[in-house]
Amino acid sequence: MPLLLGVNIDHIATLRQARFARSPDAHNAEPCPLAAAFDAMAGGADSLTLHVRGDRRHMQDADAFRIRAEVPLPLNFEMGVTPEMLGIALRLKPDFACLVPETREEISTEGGLDVVAHFESTRATVTTLQDAGIQVSLFIDPDLQQLDAALRTGAGMVELHTGCFANALPPERTAETTRLTTAARHGHQAGLRINAGHGLNYSNLTELLTVPHLAELNIGHSIIAMALSCGLTEAVRRMKSLMAPYPAAS
Ligand code: PXP
Repeated sequence: MPLLLGVNIDHIATLRQARFARSPDAHNAEPCPLAAAFDAMAGGADSLTLHVRGDRRHMQDADAFRIRAEVPLPLNFEMGVTPEMLGIALRLKPDFACLVPETREEISTEGGLDVVAHFESTRATVTTLQDAGIQVSLFIDPDLQQLDAALRTGAGMVELHTGCFANALPPERTAETTRLTTAARHGHQAGLRINAGHGLNYSNLTELLTVPHLAELNIGHSIIAMALSCGLTEAVRRMKSLMAPYPAAS
């Protein structure tokens, strides 16, 4: 299997909300997340990722349902572990749900989910989603204890948080790459599918691709930033071509 790219289009909604928070469905509300989803698909996105946050700061419920209904790509629904988001996920029926921590103060998802500390609620949410036919991923730091706890929830997938890797400069970045490599090997050996994301960009990708066993990357901010100069379809195409040399996940 080639390394897959999930394109996170939350920031299209972030920009729309900056002007149209009170009327995201107005006839003149722009930019349009649905149009962005089609542009990302044209550039070769393998899936779409979106996050309806508790505070609805970017994606609105209607965006998620519209994109689910109209775009023929797998949908990865990022969600906090709350009864409200579980209810939305069960109605939306995405292909994948990625459980993330969520606090009101953070600008974007900051740390990984603490599965060790919130084991029972995480496991119950995983089971409910899987019973509805939704594959579940847990967004965790590259930490072996978190990986083992993730495995015990029954989730078949994890997304390794690459934020520390992305924020570090060489030579410190090497240590973060090693952490990710150790975690990817450990998770893969245990039978988990290994995804990764957060803070990945056109410059740090080459080093990230030294991490083995990756199945999918989820990238948002950098692709949307690149799209400002070359358009979203081309920005996705460029990211895909950087990913193309990655060896098949083994
Ligand atoms: N993966 C998860 C779980 C996320 O919450 C996000 C967005 O914060 C991303 C990937 C994409 O991160 P970025 O926008 O930095 O590429």
